[in-house]
Amino acid sequence: MKIFIDSGNTDEIREACALGLVDGVTTNPSLVAKSGKPFRQLLDEILAIVDGPISAEVISTHAEGILKEGRELAGIHHNIVVKVPLIPEGLKAVRIFSQEGIKTNVTLCFSAPQALLSAKAGATYISPFVGRLDDISAPGMNLIEDIRTIYDNYAIETQILTASARSPMHFMEAAKIGSDVITAPFSVLMQLLSHPLTDIGLKKFLDDWEKTKK
Ligand code: G3P
Repeated sequence: MKIFIDSGNTDEIREACALGLVDGVTTNPSLVAKSGKPFRQLLDEILAIVDGPISAEVISTHAEGILKEGRELAGIHHNIVVKVPLIPEGLKAVRIFSQEGIKTNVTLCFSAPQALLSAKAGATYISPFVGRLDDISAPGMNLIEDIRTIYDNYAIETQILTASARSPMHFMEAAKIGSDVITAPFSVLMQLLSHPLTDIGLKKFLDDWEKTKK
């Protein structure tokens, strides 16, 4: 399973890269706003840190505008993946991007039929938001299972990118189900690395080592 970091914070992205955890990056308009940087500057900084797919989201809601924004974004660098909202106008644009060889990440997916239709339109990645489904008491990971089954039934190549992941459980379940990619915030990536028994064990080793000096 590939791991993307869901962040617009370049310090976090750099640190996660140093740990060897990052295959790619996802951003969204909320994360860009949180960074406090102009979108283009932020993308250039991320491109300089990570050599992998970097999702950059359009803000137009009509196909014509989505196509214009997406072509501009894709023209910045071959690693840019155009992130498109899962709305009818978005899928119109995704179909054309696919014909033009522009990679897309179809975002804000909350149902299996939406995922199937996005794949038919030619999406490179589909982003089901598991955490936001959990928020409304609909188990998000069930959606990943359903999409995996449907995509496998028809040998669909669109990659499942588990998004809105908020916990190590989301990560573990996504890996068990066979999600192609998961994107998670830096805090979740750090949670995945830590275990209290590792800390306790290390402390004991170091304490015992000190005794050898007495
Ligand atoms: O990749 C989508 C993700 O950023 C949404 O996460 O936690 O805002 O639901 P969240």
